[in-house]
Amino acid sequence: MAEVVFKHVTKVYEGGFVAVQDFNLEIKDKEFVVIVGPSGCGKSTSLRMIAGLEDITDGEIYIDNVLINKKPPKDRDIAMVFQNYALYPHMTVEENMSFGLRLRNFPKAEIKQRVNEAATILSLTDYLNKKPKVLSGGQRQRVAIGRVITRKPKVFLFDEPLSNLDAKLRIQMRAELIKIHAKLKVTSIYVTHDQLEAMTMGDKMVVMNNKLIQQIGSPMEVYRNPINKFVAGFIGSPPMNFFEITIAEKAGSIWADAKDFQLKIPASYMEKLRPYIGKPVTFGIRPEDIYDRSVYLGQVDNNTAIANVEILEMLGSEEFVYFATPNFSFTAKYDPSIVMHIGDTNKEVIFDMKNAHFFDIETEMSIV
Ligand SMILES: Nc1ncnc2c1ncn2[C@@H]1O[C@H](COP(=O)(O)OP(=O)(O)OP(=O)(O)O)[C@@H](O)[C@H]1O
Ligand SMILES: [Mg+2]
Repeated sequence: MAEVVFKHVTKVYEGGFVAVQDFNLEIKDKEFVVIVGPSGCGKSTSLRMIAGLEDITDGEIYIDNVLINKKPPKDRDIAMVFQNYALYPHMTVEENMSFGLRLRNFPKAEIKQRVNEAATILSLTDYLNKKPKVLSGGQRQRVAIGRVITRKPKVFLFDEPLSNLDAKLRIQMRAELIKIHAKLKVTSIYVTHDQLEAMTMGDKMVVMNNKLIQQIGSPMEVYRNPINKFVAGFIGSPPMNFFEITIAEKAGSIWADAKDFQLKIPASYMEKLRPYIGKPVTFGIRPEDIYDRSVYLGQVDNNTAIANVEILEMLGSEEFVYFATPNFSFTAKYDPSIVMHIGDTNKEVIFDMKNAHFFDIETEMSIV
């Protein structure tokens, strides 16, 4: 049982630099929470304050309703996996995994049992007597995780634990960590700058930018309803396309006037967009909500742009098409069966307007 609660937590480093500002977050028992954001936004600092590696300048952190601000790190019952996990090269896997327990004078039988349990979960049983140097990167990473599993802490903290691994291994370890969490059900906080890890791993996603939490929600909530332009552009790959357009009213409907093309906006958007009629706003649409006319199953009703193909990226299972119109460029995610060529002109491109997003130009907050 472990709930973690941040109340108005702020971190000011020596010299007055504010790294984290008014951080509020409630993490439920057994939850897997991912904190995601660009480099320098304050993710590690937030984690390090829970671990007791950084003082909390202002606000409170509670674990199970106990204020931990002043508790020494060793009494917080948390365990942290870092990006640069250092295994002891002269120790076997078993010795590496049991090190923390031996340091705390656990009984031998208990140590053996915990190491064996962790080794089973991590598929390391056959490696217990091996030294780190004969292990693969993924196996070493699993030993580092094993070291914290054996401790049976209340909370796991992960600070970009997979970023040193190659792409394939990272995907594999991502799945393994999800499995481990399903088995152990320990409250976990995972920090990453990789939006894909954040989408796939967490029950809850916390998007940070520039020392502030931007949005908290399930990955799909955040993906579908980004609260502002930053979150909309950060979550999703390739990122959401943005266009500066003007909202226009014509024949009882509202339109996105992008100069190069005019798009009819669904009536359900009317109420929220009405105050913006005649004004510029940012129109956002994800690459997967753009279709080639030949395969679009919805209605073709004033939702078309004519564009040229500038670049193509064929990924096998999908194809990224980089389009250009006189004033804009944008990316579409197409099915690879749609044959496209670099230099193709006057392609009919359909925007699925029921998935359109609109953002206030000044505040960058989502309008609808
Ligand atoms: N000990 C320190 N003293 C002063 N400033 C620091 C210190 N540690 C971090 N910072 C600054 O605080 C900000 C947040 O750092 P933090 O390490 O939390 O970022 P991060 O989100 O984890 O980034 P990354 O993805 O690059 O790891 C950065 O601008 C960093 O330069
Ligand atoms: Mg960091």
